[in-house]
Amino acid sequence: MKIILIGFMGSGKSTISKKIAGKLNLKLIEMDTIIEQNAGKTIKDIFSQQGETTFRQMEIDFAKEYAQFDNIVISTGGGVVMNKIILDYFKDHNGKIFFLDTSFEEIVKRIGNDTSRPLFQDKIKAHELYKFRYPLYKSYADVTIHTIHKTQSDIVEEIIQMVR
Ligand code: S3P
Repeated sequence: MKIILIGFMGSGKSTISKKIAGKLNLKLIEMDTIIEQNAGKTIKDIFSQQGETTFRQMEIDFAKEYAQFDNIVISTGGGVVMNKIILDYFKDHNGKIFFLDTSFEEIVKRIGNDTSRPLFQDKIKAHELYKFRYPLYKSYADVTIHTIHKTQSDIVEEIIQMVR
């Protein structure tokens, strides 16, 4: 089994992935953490020292490698839809892709003051990015999960029901 969670920054990918992995006894893979470990620096430093294009290439390299593994839940970075090839790798290897559809207002509440995310430092630009990416998340996902008015457990159960 290979479960891939996609969605904008702050949509709940990490939290939900962790819970699914625990319940289904799958290995949790945090894409950003692996990239940071491989690069030996934080995402923030990768962006400021090497630029976004280099970071995106790191995401592609990650996907190529991790698409091979099984019994995993991958919490992706919010920008994986910027290069179609990333999710194509997972689709080609039977990955089931879930989009956590969370409103921009809710996202601002959660991460509006976070300084670790280079692409969420200006709320107007972040909102533009959200609007640009929204249709991409929808079209790349096998399933869209509406998260509004749902508890974390509701969301986890909904996804588990669909993969069983
Ligand atoms: C990014 C999202 C981040 C991280 C990087 C770029 C994006 O991950 O990969 O800062 O382009 O949306 P999260 O979605 O986990 O915040």
